[in-house]
Amino acid sequence: EKSPRIYTREEVKSHSSLETRIWVTLGCEVFDVTEFVDLHPGGPSKLMLAAGGPLEPFWALYAVHDQAHVREILAQYKVGELSPEDKAPSTLKTSDPYADDPVRHPALKVNSQRPFNAEPPPELLTENYITPNPIFFTRNHLPVPNLKPETYRLHVVGPPGCQSLSLSLDDLYQFPKHEVTVTLQCAGNRRSEMTQFKEVKGLEWNAGAISTARWAGARLCDVLAKAGHQLRETEAHVCFEGLDSDPTGTAYGASIPLARAMDPEADVLLAYEMNGQPLPRDHGFPVRVVVPGVVGARHVKWLGKVSVEPEESYSHWQRRDYKGFSPSVDWDTVDFDSAPSIQELPVQSAITEPKDGETVQSGEVTIKGYAWSGGGRAIVRVDVSLDGGLTWQVAELDGEEQRPRKAWAWRLWQLQAPVPAGKKELNIVCKAVDDSYNVQPDTVAPIWNLRGVLSNAWHRVHVRVTP
Ligand code: HEM
Ligand code: MTE
Repeated sequence: EKSPRIYTREEVKSHSSLETRIWVTLGCEVFDVTEFVDLHPGGPSKLMLAAGGPLEPFWALYAVHDQAHVREILAQYKVGELSPEDKAPSTLKTSDPYADDPVRHPALKVNSQRPFNAEPPPELLTENYITPNPIFFTRNHLPVPNLKPETYRLHVVGPPGCQSLSLSLDDLYQFPKHEVTVTLQCAGNRRSEMTQFKEVKGLEWNAGAISTARWAGARLCDVLAKAGHQLRETEAHVCFEGLDSDPTGTAYGASIPLARAMDPEADVLLAYEMNGQPLPRDHGFPVRVVVPGVVGARHVKWLGKVSVEPEESYSHWQRRDYKGFSPSVDWDTVDFDSAPSIQELPVQSAITEPKDGETVQSGEVTIKGYAWSGGGRAIVRVDVSLDGGLTWQVAELDGEEQRPRKAWAWRLWQLQAPVPAGKKELNIVCKAVDDSYNVQPDTVAPIWNLRGVLSNAWHRVHVRVTP
């Protein structure tokens, strides 16, 4: 037998388009799967996510590949093996404050590497009702702290006259464990659509700055009660501080009203588990705040301190960011004190399949997406149009039923619709309605704001139809 041809990871990486052919690796074996792309039962676009790199991180998400017949299919496409020195991960420079950041899943679309900001590609986002941890969107403002669970302490500042608490992880585990499925959305989700209309200041996000997980931890109201807090001061705020800090020592911070924190029905958690696992480092290990129905920015990660204060958090991210303004306000005229901080988010929906610019088959088209509203408001309907909003069809809602006033998690939806005969292209649009009958605005223009937040206009996808 001939000895196998040897390739480097760099060489494999250069084969990531149909022009250069599609190579992937599994273990130390290299495969040219170009001929299989269109045959893939999970669809070509999903296979292409792994093009030029390892299959393992993707197959770990989809156990359907954990079968002998899948290996047999792959084996037919073997072209060689990886060189032995290429199996070890490359070493990182240590002077870099981000050098200690965790390793991320290759499917994530990176909007900024340092600090790390990334979203799952649309074709994976709605594949599962619960977003798998490795592809949950990540929004970091600073390097990821490396916290040791043994020495971790959460400082809870008690009201005047009471004792403050210093809680270890074990102490937190002693509180009743509360579990809740919550969708987290960044205020900047879909910012790129605002940018297309008119430039904004902020990281580009497509429609993937939103994800859903099952969170478990102690209820904030139980921990505050233990520290002696009661809901007397309705005007007060609960301030949170992260253990991530910039070179000046300023930590990430945010706050929520005390009334929400103390309401047992609001399900505010100090979470230590995400989908049955300890929190991944990117998502706040070992403890983060989860505030159902509220903008992502208040879900403070790597939580170090909780205190009840007469005023909102003085953090930059509470007072000088994450606020909405009129389209007429620019950076010369903006007065951040004039607008309230974003807490509950407005109704939102987006199309994840097909993708903008894709070509679909004539006959029938399947359209998929998500819908969610803030404040526990349930999604009652998603309308979909194939003709830019002239005529509408009602999509089928999937995913878990929502409880009134406690609809913390999204609904996934889909619509199978005949493609009208003779159509060469489709202008697909979606819009959702929540149970307060809030709707999404039809265009970006009237909601444009200088920071590009709260982008929830009708989502539009333009596709061509094969004749
Ligand atoms: C399904 C092979 C890459 C996502 C399948 C199935 C096969 C297969 C044979 C059907 C399994 C069954 O139902 O018994 C392959 C091969 C790949 C590859 C040979 C690499 C060359 C990927 C990647 C992803 C992916 C990179 C994800 C990012 C899926 C999904 C399904 C699937 C979601 C299920 C589709 C459904 O439930 O209808 N794949 N796959 N595959 N694959 Fe892959
Ligand atoms: N908490 C800390 N300590 N530091 C941060 O940078 N980012 C916030 C919030 N909590 C942030 C944080 C923002 S803006 C969002 S949208 C969410 O975390 C994102 O959470 P995720 O990365 O787990 O998706």
